[in-house]
Amino acid sequence: MPELLYVGLIGLGVMGQRMLARLADHPRLRATRIWDADPAALARTLAAHPQLQPADSADALVATPGLHTLYIATPPAPHMALSHRAFDAGLAVFCEKPLTVDFDAARRAIARIDRERQRAAVNFSLASSPGLAALRAACGVGGDGGVDAGVDAGIGALQTVQIELAFARWPRPWQAAAGTWLAERAEGGFTREVLSHFIFVLQRLLGPAQVLSARPDYPADGRGAERALTATLLAGGVPVQLQAQVAGTVDDFNRMTLQGSTGAVELRDWFGLQQRQGDGPWQARGDPAAMRQRGQADQLDQWVALIEGRAHGLPGYAEALAVQQTIEALLAGGRTA
Ligand SMILES: NC(=O)c1ccc[n+]([C@@H]2O[C@H](COP(=O)([O-])OP(=O)(O)OC[C@H]3O[C@@H](n4cnc5c(N)ncnc54)[C@H](O)[C@@H]3O)[C@@H](O)[C@H]2O)c1
Repeated sequence: MPELLYVGLIGLGVMGQRMLARLADHPRLRATRIWDADPAALARTLAAHPQLQPADSADALVATPGLHTLYIATPPAPHMALSHRAFDAGLAVFCEKPLTVDFDAARRAIARIDRERQRAAVNFSLASSPGLAALRAACGVGGDGGVDAGVDAGIGALQTVQIELAFARWPRPWQAAAGTWLAERAEGGFTREVLSHFIFVLQRLLGPAQVLSARPDYPADGRGAERALTATLLAGGVPVQLQAQVAGTVDDFNRMTLQGSTGAVELRDWFGLQQRQGDGPWQARGDPAAMRQRGQADQLDQWVALIEGRAHGLPGYAEALAVQQTIEALLAGGRTA
């Protein structure tokens, strides 16, 4: 593989912009060609990044000579169709979560990936985080590819997991420019958008989760996304309590606590980590900003490994489908799809 790896991007909304900013600092990944179904989004992006080349369509973008990989940052509905177009063109795909809410389409894509050895991964940002590595080490699951776990000792036998989320408003302020889909029940909502990251972490720690009970609370208009969710799950034999709501004054509160027989460890505000022994005081482990930066840099390096066909730690489509099956069961009040 050449030193520079060329990236095409489809979907130039909030996440597309964030990825462009992150790619600008990477020594090997180069954003080159872009497309969005909304001409205004394409024009805005070209004004901010005049070095990029616009495409006329998704097909034209994936057919760009010399392109190595496609990043997909549209809302979920087109994720599978765009993935197939990229596979047809021989590109490695890095797709935003949620993978899709169309499980049959996901299964067909996964079968194709296996059959044709296509290169594909999904962007769960915690996959490459030092926090996940620390949780794995604390529960004795093992380290993640040499990432320094940053915890002193284990927490004994894992007894319970608690996941708590709260949002002063939904969508969160930094997503205010996103499409209306994000606030709607069909494709959006905090369960798909945020909780999926923590269900992914749970799955990496303990295997796929089973929903024992779930109580989503939807607005009466039949259209808006959930406003609250309480649920009980079981993962690897460990009970998991979940509480999430649009309430309070904090824009984006999240906490995932693993309680063991001799201590506890907590992922907090995405990349923060704290730990305690017994009933002792919580002690912060590492600097959250530095851990975020390390996780993001590592993720791009793993994307390079995906493109080059080397081993990597990014979540595959089958892993992302399993997460989404748990998410949709929660949104359906515990019924599996
Ligand atoms: N990994 C993360 O941490 C993270 C965070 C936020 C959002 N996301 C995910 O990223 C994806 C995009 O979210 P967003 O907040 O950027 O949304 P957004 O609404 O801001 O942007 C989506 C863009 O996709 C374009 N688009 C829609 N359909 C298209 C199609 N068929 N072809 C080409 N372009 C199309 C829209 O015009 C828009 O510009 C979603 O799947 C979302 O869940 C991931």
